[in-house]
Amino acid sequence: MIVIVGYSGHACVAIETFSSMGLTVGAYCETAPKSDNPYQLEWLGSEQDEATAERMASADYFVGIGDGMVRMRVQQELQQRLGRNPLNAIHARAIVSSSVTMGAGLLVGAGAVINAQARIGEGAICNTASVIEHHCVISPYAHIAPGAILCGGVFVGEGSLVGAGAIIKPQIRIGRNVIIGAGTVVLRDVPDNTVLVGNPGTPLIRK
Ligand SMILES: CC(C)(COP(=O)(O)OP(=O)(O)OC[C@H]1O[C@@H](n2cnc3c(N)ncnc32)[C@H](O)[C@@H]1OP(=O)(O)O)[C@@H](O)C(=O)NCCC(=O)NCCS
Repeated sequence: MIVIVGYSGHACVAIETFSSMGLTVGAYCETAPKSDNPYQLEWLGSEQDEATAERMASADYFVGIGDGMVRMRVQQELQQRLGRNPLNAIHARAIVSSSVTMGAGLLVGAGAVINAQARIGEGAICNTASVIEHHCVISPYAHIAPGAILCGGVFVGEGSLVGAGAIIKPQIRIGRNVIIGAGTVVLRDVPDNTVLVGNPGTPLIRK
C-alpha cells in the first residue's frame, strides 16, 4: 500500500500518477479527515502521530503537498523518522531520458519531457507537459509548473517555482526561493528570493 501525505490538489495528481504506473494509494495523512475523499482513501491521522508512524512503518509513502517549503520540511522529517525514502511518481506517459538522475519523492507529470543528462532533485515537481531540456538541473523541492519550457543547461535553485507556461533561455541560472510568474520569458540570470514577471522577465514591483 502507498500512503500519501496531504490530500489536496497536488496529492490528487500524485494519486493518479501512481495509478498510471499500476500502483494504488490506499491511505492518506492529514491532521483531520477530509470531507471530500474522491479516491475513498483510509485516513491514518497526522504523519506526526506515533500511531500513524507505526502504520507507515511498512508502507511506501509519498508527500503530496504542493507548497515547496512545507513539502521539504515534511519529507525530510519523514525520511529521518522512517529511515527510508519516499517513492517517485513518474507518469506512464512522461518521456524521461535514461541518462536523467533523480532524487527521491519527486513527481513527473503526464506529458512532461525530461531530456538527456538532466538532474532532478528530491521532492521536485516537473508538472504536466513541462519540458526540461538536456543538462538542466532542478534543485530539491523546486516546481516546474505545467507547460513551462526550460531550454538546455538551465539551473533552478532549491524551492523555486517556475510558473505555468514560462520559457527559460538556455544556460540561465535561477536562484533559490524564486517565483517566475506564469508566462514569463526569462532572458537573464535571476537572483535568490526574486519574483519575476513579463516578457522580458523583470522583477515584480508591488505598488
Ligand atoms: C507572479 C505571481 C506569483 C504574482 O502573484 P501576486 O503576488 O498575487 O501578484 P498580483 O496578482 O497581485 O499581481 C501584481 C501585479 O503583477 C502583475 N502580474 C502578476 N502575475 C503576472 C504574470 N505572471 N505575468 C505578468 N504580470 C503579472 C499583475 O498584473 C499586477 O500588475 P498591476 O499591479 O500593474 O496590476 C503570480 O501571478 C503567478 O504568475 N504565479 C504563478 C502561478 C503558477 O504558474 N502556478 C503553478 C501552479 S501548478
